[in-house]
Amino acid sequence: MSKSDQVFIFDTTLRDGEQSAGVSFTLDDKIEIARDLAAMKVDVIEVGFPAASPVEQDAVAAIAREARGIRVAALARAVASDVDAAGAALRHAEAPRIHVFLSASEVQLRHQLRKDREQVVRMTDAMVRRARQFTDDVEFSPMDATRADIGFVSEVVRTALRAGATTINIPDTVGWVMPGVLSARIAELRHRVPEIEAAVISFHGHDDLGLATANALAAVGAGVRQIEATVNGIGERAGNTPLEEIVMAIHVHRDVLGVHTGVDTTGIQPISHKVAAKSGLHVAANKAVVGRNAFRHASGIHQDGVVKFRETFEILDPAEVGNVRGTEIVLGKLSGRAGFRARAEQLGLTMADPDWEVAFERFQLIADRSREVDDAAVRTIVADTIRETGRHVSVA
Ligand code: KIV
Ligand code: ZN
Repeated sequence: MSKSDQVFIFDTTLRDGEQSAGVSFTLDDKIEIARDLAAMKVDVIEVGFPAASPVEQDAVAAIAREARGIRVAALARAVASDVDAAGAALRHAEAPRIHVFLSASEVQLRHQLRKDREQVVRMTDAMVRRARQFTDDVEFSPMDATRADIGFVSEVVRTALRAGATTINIPDTVGWVMPGVLSARIAELRHRVPEIEAAVISFHGHDDLGLATANALAAVGAGVRQIEATVNGIGERAGNTPLEEIVMAIHVHRDVLGVHTGVDTTGIQPISHKVAAKSGLHVAANKAVVGRNAFRHASGIHQDGVVKFRETFEILDPAEVGNVRGTEIVLGKLSGRAGFRARAEQLGLTMADPDWEVAFERFQLIADRSREVDDAAVRTIVADTIRETGRHVSVA
């Protein structure tokens, strides 16, 4: 089966990301973030849910008017007023996409939607057709697809395709699925609905079990060619697949996976900072790719390694993700001679060779009593050592 080797990145920071508890972007925030995502060559941005309110509809319309060089999506439930609101909001978009979603799992049908399967199939057909009257780019999502009956998911997907859907998204709405189960489910869907091959198959993951990136990778392995993600993984509850993780995972493993994305990865760290600042959701220090500690090395063995050759303990080049601080040696009680000297030299400090040992002993006394020995302390240690030994080195 031949599949394109490009995985499209669909960013939903401005829609699912804004569904994070406590997050509300201003229109200016949204426009700025949308511009940065376009500059990074993300393929699609989902910018809102126009039926939610007139303010939301105006915001989607404003971004759609402004965004260039990128596909702009708006979300709609499978009801006429939502689809019409999305169509109207996207009127001035260069490349508009309407994203129609409708529950597919038994638990949601019975306890939330209160519709039977036949009604869901009819709504899918009618609303995808309605969306197609506004644009020839329509995405359909059978919500909670990973927990739904595969026979029924196949039926609604077949219906959506017949009605004109061009992207079929498989949402793991509650972050329930495991990578192997997801791969098997996608294979089963492709087997049952061969006509899906004419569409782009997409995956939308949530991180309730911390599996959103692993699931997205499994989906790519199973033939999915669009991944939905958010910057810093923000989103409903535990969030969505983090854009920076899936993009860099695909990049690092591109040879094995046989695919790539079109994203300019150097935009990753700057947009992470921007989304953290504008959402108020700070990024954990140990967060993959964009956390403060992602390129900071604290233990003696690792510091010795990266001083000799960065790749001994780093799989990503900080510059590749736009991290201007680069590889950092963080000094503390676990640091060794190599790390201490390397950090001091990075600060432009030099000493006569025998003095490094004297300075290191002084450093260890301080490091044992503190969490981190900062640059000011390193300068003081070197200055005190030079004063004590009386040996100076002239710097060229
Ligand atoms: O998680 C989800 O199912 C969604 C859909 C609207 C795609 O966000
Ligand atoms: Zn979602």
